[in-house]
Amino acid sequence: MADPEARSKALFMEAAKVLTHPRCVNCHPHDDQPRQRDRAEAHNPPVVRGPDNHGVPALACGSCHQDRNLDHARVPGAPDWHLAPIEMAWLGRTPAAICAQIKDPKRNGGKTLAQIADHTAHDKLVGWGWNPGADRQPAPGSQERFGALVAAWIETGAACPAEEKPQ
Ligand code: HEC
Ligand code: HEC
Repeated sequence: MADPEARSKALFMEAAKVLTHPRCVNCHPHDDQPRQRDRAEAHNPPVVRGPDNHGVPALACGSCHQDRNLDHARVPGAPDWHLAPIEMAWLGRTPAAICAQIKDPKRNGGKTLAQIADHTAHDKLVGWGWNPGADRQPAPGSQERFGALVAAWIETGAACPAEEKPQ
């Protein structure tokens, strides 16, 4: 593909196969509840986001989720397990909407594109997506390949795909 903008959009669509995967969107909901499994089931037992995305004191995420998967109990884990802030909601969103969110410093935790690339390639909660434990399906590819896709998307101008036509 000669046109860098078209190439950039195509790279984002490839990365979106990860970004829209249940292992990621279950922790990036648009409300106060994490989701589970492959169909965005409500989290069981019921838990809430709490004021700092770590649950409420009586039922903090870390009271069950440890820094690694506990396979016999099916409890997934990675260091500092907590929900993505609500402005980073991806659950049920299109690739175009997620793309706009990720690029917006007001909604991405004030990150530069270089920091986004670093986060995707190295963050441990992101990395859990490829090591989800129990019988969970991992995100496609590997964190290394996903990080490379995001870096290439940024190098080609970080273009966002067009919004999908409503069905
Ligand atoms: C009382 C224990 C408990 C608490 C507290 C808890 N969880 Fe969970 N969580 C679990 C268990 C058990 C599972 C696995 C369910 C299964 O797959 O059978 C789970 C699964 C998940 C998953 C789903 C992984 C997937 O893709 O299927 C996410 C995301 C998650 N929890 C996030 C959170 C967040 C964020 C918090 C805090 C707001 C939290 N949990 C609090 C016990 C807990
Ligand atoms: C256990 C919950 C959890 C899981 C699972 C998770 N994330 Fe996140 N994600 C977070 C939190 C918390 C933040 C905010 C971190 C920060 O601002 O430093 C975040 C932020 C991000 C960001 C940067 C900010 C933005 O604008 O979105 C990216 C990119 C990201 N996550 C990608 C992913 C990908 C890709 C996956 C799946 C492979 C994933 N995450 C799975 C909790 C999670």
